[in-house]
Amino acid sequence: MKPEQEWDGELLGELSSEWAKRIIFLPECGSTNDEARRLALKGAAHHSLVLTELQTSGRGRRGQPWACPQGEGLACSMIIRPKSPPALWSRHALAAGLALAESLDGFGLSAGVKWPNDVWVDRKKICGILVEAGADFVIVGIGLNINVTVFPDDLAHPATSLALETGASVSREEVLISLLQRLRVRLGQIETGFSELMKAWATRCVLTGNDIVLESNGELITGRMEGLSANGELLLRTPEGVKKFLQANTIRLR
Ligand code: BTN
Repeated sequence: MKPEQEWDGELLGELSSEWAKRIIFLPECGSTNDEARRLALKGAAHHSLVLTELQTSGRGRRGQPWACPQGEGLACSMIIRPKSPPALWSRHALAAGLALAESLDGFGLSAGVKWPNDVWVDRKKICGILVEAGADFVIVGIGLNINVTVFPDDLAHPATSLALETGASVSREEVLISLLQRLRVRLGQIETGFSELMKAWATRCVLTGNDIVLESNGELITGRMEGLSANGELLLRTPEGVKKFLQANTIRLR
């Protein structure tokens, strides 16, 4: 099937030399995260970006499938070769989620971040991010609903898209340019400038001040989200005091 709207090859070439060292465009692939990992293992450069038109086995967190109709979204994965120690690699998820949310400002949307790395508009999920690590690289996979108008009924969380929120079809190229600009800024703050990143994150956090249920290591923990620590951990006020979480399987608002 021919996509409604194809990526502009010339523009991808320009972007490729401008910032993402290399954009590898694949008309179709299983998962851009898998392709990025394969290329990273073969030595692909820092900031290489794998972009596809169609994923046949796109993945989300916890092994969930991630599907997007051909030509209607953004599915890409960036290879990062961090200078920071692995203990800080979870920061990439926070940086990517924030960059994504900020990149939507120019399209008239007010997007929030749901810790650690979903992007929400009006409590509906517009973007998912899947961060996976190798021995000396991190893959940041981004799935953004751009011109999708119909979603499966069985989604775990209500979904939305740029087109549904703005009422108009949106240029995927413009979204990609905006995203790369914000990623440049926020990924650049992981090693130096993380406090600035966290400050901006706090202003967009959709969970702060809300009662949530968090699942961690098979345990369900209920509490009020107080905010984030300086390291990006989630601070949860529980009857036993404030607990810190560096990761959680699921989080839902109560
Ligand atoms: C989630 O919300 O569970 C994360 C979804 C991440 C989807 C993106 S699409 C591009 C990249 N390739 C994948 O297979 N997954 C990520």
